[in-house]
Amino acid sequence: MVSRNVDRLITLEEHIIQSQNRFRGATGELSQLLRDIGLAAKIVSREVNKAGITNILGLEGSENVHGEHVKKLDVFANEQMRHALSRSQIICTMVSEEDDEPVLMESSSGKYIVFVDPLDGSSNIDVNVSIGTIFSIFRRKSHRADLPDKEDILQSGMEQVAGGYALYGSSTILAYTTGLGVSVFTLDPSIGEFFLSDDNIQMPEHGSYYSINEGSFSTWEKGLQEYIKYCKRDDKPSGKPYSARYIGSMVADVHRTILKGGIFIYPATQKHPQGKLRLMYECNPLAFIVEQAGGRASNGEKRILDIQPEDIHQSTPIFLGSKQNVEEAEQFLKEYEAESMIGK
Ligand code: AHG
Ligand code: MN
Ligand code: MN
Repeated sequence: MVSRNVDRLITLEEHIIQSQNRFRGATGELSQLLRDIGLAAKIVSREVNKAGITNILGLEGSENVHGEHVKKLDVFANEQMRHALSRSQIICTMVSEEDDEPVLMESSSGKYIVFVDPLDGSSNIDVNVSIGTIFSIFRRKSHRADLPDKEDILQSGMEQVAGGYALYGSSTILAYTTGLGVSVFTLDPSIGEFFLSDDNIQMPEHGSYYSINEGSFSTWEKGLQEYIKYCKRDDKPSGKPYSARYIGSMVADVHRTILKGGIFIYPATQKHPQGKLRLMYECNPLAFIVEQAGGRASNGEKRILDIQPEDIHQSTPIFLGSKQNVEEAEQFLKEYEAESMIGK
């Protein structure tokens, strides 16, 4: 059940400050960082809503009627995140899907490292379908006088201090967790303010939606093929097949899964033997949110948050959603393990 424990208007700013007061010894830096990300999300949201008109006024990469260069939205979103994160001297390093290497910020003594997928679901931009931004925040381990090192950057998801996403859909929402439950805010575009819309959200323990790109069915491991066949059968306890839903923007598919329950899967395929979705800036933050909402996220065998990363851009298969659905899928994988070849 989704709980909507909100009885008065609370802005993102207020909520961040209230949450900060629950952490003894908090310096306010993380709060500032979350506010900066909120600002970047508002700027990207404004640009996303203008995307159609931008196309009328000039194609990406061209000059529009004002003689301005029209940027690709994912490049624009990346720049906005970088600007937002360098506003205060809190971040030492930003790692982005759009940059091959970690970007050392001017404030190299900053306390935090941020991973970001500035624009998730980019293939959906041109067709007016929901897209998003995903972020994950770690505290550096090395001394602040030194330059951040590999151990600061390659931390497991368990060590995230915050994770979240913005979703640019029929409305713009921002969801985040610092490990004390998940809070969801909705943007009121008329005044440019995020208001708390769901606090301490809990997802259904079981749901009747499955979400996967079924086009690559023939290249999946046997256990997954059998699981998806099971999803379509009516001889399960509910007596009904599950419904299929797949948007193709992870952030939107995961948001629906949190609200309605069910499972989202991006598995190992022939084309992507290690899965396609990136551990550090797609899977970790969304796994953190889903676990905080009472759900489960694994690579089929192991909890996503326990994976020790070896590379900032590494990918992983992911099974994420309602606890019972993910366990169901894992059982199928285990049962057919011996026949599975992909990614092993
Ligand atoms: P991005 O736009 O950041 O590259 O991410 C796209 C991802 C993800 O959002 C989505 O779940 C997946 O690609 C869809 O991939 P398929 O088209 O292979 O289903
Ligand atoms: Mn993405
Ligand atoms: Mn992206």
